[in-house]
Amino acid sequence: MIFLLGVCSYFIGSIPFSYLIPRWIGKIDIRRHGSGNTGTTNVVRTLGLKVGVLAFLGDFLKGVIPALIGLLWLGELGGVVGGALAVIGHCHPVWLKFKGGKGVATSAGILLVLFPDIVVILVVVQALIIGFTRYMSLASIISAVLLPILAIVFSKSTLFILFSFLLAIYVIFRHRSNLKRLINGTETKLNFKKK
Ligand code: G3P
Repeated sequence: MIFLLGVCSYFIGSIPFSYLIPRWIGKIDIRRHGSGNTGTTNVVRTLGLKVGVLAFLGDFLKGVIPALIGLLWLGELGGVVGGALAVIGHCHPVWLKFKGGKGVATSAGILLVLFPDIVVILVVVQALIIGFTRYMSLASIISAVLLPILAIVFSKSTLFILFSFLLAIYVIFRHRSNLKRLINGTETKLNFKKK
């Protein structure tokens, strides 16, 4: 059962909405624009906020659906396995030669299912960081750092704490090029206006 859940979650996660929506609406290959990342931030950067919101919703639901099905079907372990495989599918989609996004929107969907209380705090933190700095990547990295800390503070189960640690490390690792750019001052700030 858990294997079936994992396989289905991977394939749900691998639907590359942040690639498909720019293809359909903007007639572009998002991998050739901006940061080249198939993620919400790069869609906003390249095609504006409205298209970015659509891409976000697709990538976000890819996290919600597997985590929710897993949680209802097999309990906490199901939620974690469904969520983990959805993020892996998003970051390494078979359809795009395993080169996908950085996992933030899909993780947000998973966290909404598994840690709704923590998500509220992370959304506020993200909004403040974006508002003050306009660095989406910085907001993503700081949220990832805070996630396991908040999981401990909110006394989540050992399984959930372990998952939050691994998810945080994975998301930060996916942002290693952004980290380098943030350190050397070349990271691009978010501009919500369509170019
Ligand atoms: O979620 C991805 C975001 O944090 C960074 O995206 O396109 O600036 O690499 P990007």
